Amino acid sequence: VSDVGLTTRLQQFLTDVQGQSNHCLDLVLPDEETHPAVVHRAMRYSVFAGGKRFRPALVIAAGRVFGAPQETLLNLACGIELIHTYSLIHDDLPCMDDDDLRRGKPTLHKVFGEGVAVLAGDALYALAFEIISRCSDPQVVAEVARATGTMGMIGGQVVDILLEGQPIRPEDLEYIHEHKTGSIITACVTAGARLGDAEPGEVEAIDRYGRNVGLAFQIVDDVLDEVGDAATLGKEPGSDRIKDKNTYPKLHGLEGSVQIATELVERAKNELVLPGRDTIILRLLADFVVQRVT
Ligand code: IPE
Ligand code: IPE
Ligand code: MG
Ligand code: MG
Ligand code: MG
Repeated sequence: VSDVGLTTRLQQFLTDVQGQSNHCLDLVLPDEETHPAVVHRAMRYSVFAGGKRFRPALVIAAGRVFGAPQETLLNLACGIELIHTYSLIHDDLPCMDDDDLRRGKPTLHKVFGEGVAVLAGDALYALAFEIISRCSDPQVVAEVARATGTMGMIGGQVVDILLEGQPIRPEDLEYIHEHKTGSIITACVTAGARLGDAEPGEVEAIDRYGRNVGLAFQIVDDVLDEVGDAATLGKEPGSDRIKDKNTYPKLHGLEGSVQIATELVERAKNELVLPGRDTIILRLLADFVVQRVT
């Protein structure tokens, strides 16, 4: 298949996932009139502001490799997107990254105030697990919960704010990125695979794929903060510099960072040699990460 064919295939897959997840998210979120209306309006404001739906795409792509049922995958995908959206709302608060633009719109606290923004984030997190528990596999629910807590995303976010403006060792920056972003991305693919008939060895390979893609994704996010534009990103570039965040470009330079991300994506794809499994979409999703900056 030509490069154009593969690009079209990825675009088609991403468009399908966006349509399916938006439909599912609309069904699970209380409507805007439901009391107390302000928090439901706030939740919908952030969830439907846009967003690539990259995590739902990973869940569905990984699940399909192992024949997981579509309905179960969609619930997991939407649950994780709710968690991701909650993490962005809190990440943008004045006490965190203090950002004003997200998914092309003013950040939630700018429109609804900080109190409602905190609570809308909490509510999205609760709703996420209500939806994810529908998959009725306790191991999957626990895996996602763990990926969002102090051993995962929150662990990374804590070190991210603690070391803001501080000198940092490369291994500590790697810890931040692997946890604040990599943990959830990894859980997307391992949980998706577990909902199908993946063998333990296959879950391990998918886990390594996820770790490499997850770290690459945050490195690329750092690079885009330096070289991207607000119209494309939907968030204000230069925000990391203003807050003196520890980023890959700061430690490894722009070219060095792109180089590292490219290598990680190659490593991710090398994990996908699984006899009898069609992993083409997972390959294309790995490429997509680094194509954002190359
Ligand atoms: C941004 O994630 C935050 C990170 C973890 C890097 P995305 O770039 O996936 O943001 P949306 O969902 O498309 O808005
Ligand atoms: C955020 O990382 C990771 C989260 C867990 C939300 P960033 O702070 O770099 O994400 P952006 O650039 O604000 O989207
Ligand atoms: Mg942050
Ligand atoms: Mg941020
Ligand atoms: Mg960023």
